[in-house]
Amino acid sequence: MDLLTAEIGIAILDEKYRNKGYGPLAFKRLIIYAFQELNIQTIGGVILLSNNRSINMFKNLGFVVREIMYKSWPMPNGDLADMVLMELKNDSITRQK
Ligand SMILES: CC(C)(COP(=O)(O)OP(=O)(O)OC[C@H]1O[C@@H](n2cnc3c(N)ncnc32)[C@H](O)[C@@H]1OP(=O)(O)O)[C@@H](O)C(=O)NCCC(=O)NCCS
Repeated sequence: MDLLTAEIGIAILDEKYRNKGYGPLAFKRLIIYAFQELNIQTIGGVILLSNNRSINMFKNLGFVVREIMYKSWPMPNGDLADMVLMELKNDSITRQK
């Protein structure tokens, strides 16, 4: 059975390897694999609204903002953080080719 939708997330744990382009490089390969090999139709990602670097990365790879979910994510200090749901459709990539 084909999966239609998948959720994606990424973290480069060792900070010295951030801001070097490795995140988008790995993300792109994963997206191509998900669309072309697994035939997934929609990839979603949920990101802290304050995480500009990650949101930029998603946007650069073609993701669009689907929804902003205010005060939806419990943080370790008890606050509720705003989150953004971003989405990439398989056919939007196909159309770009
Ligand atoms: C988010 C993460 C995966 C990005 O990977 P990376 O290799 O560090 O990404 P890059 O350095 O290529 O930056 C991605 C884009 O954001 C931009 N960017 C970098 N730092 C930024 C900042 N502080 N604010 C806004 N944009 C920023 C970069 O310029 C780049 O855009 P560009 O290609 O147009 O120049 C990585 O930083 C990480 O693991 N962070 C901690 C965990 C996390 O936030 N995960 C995401 C949760 S969904």
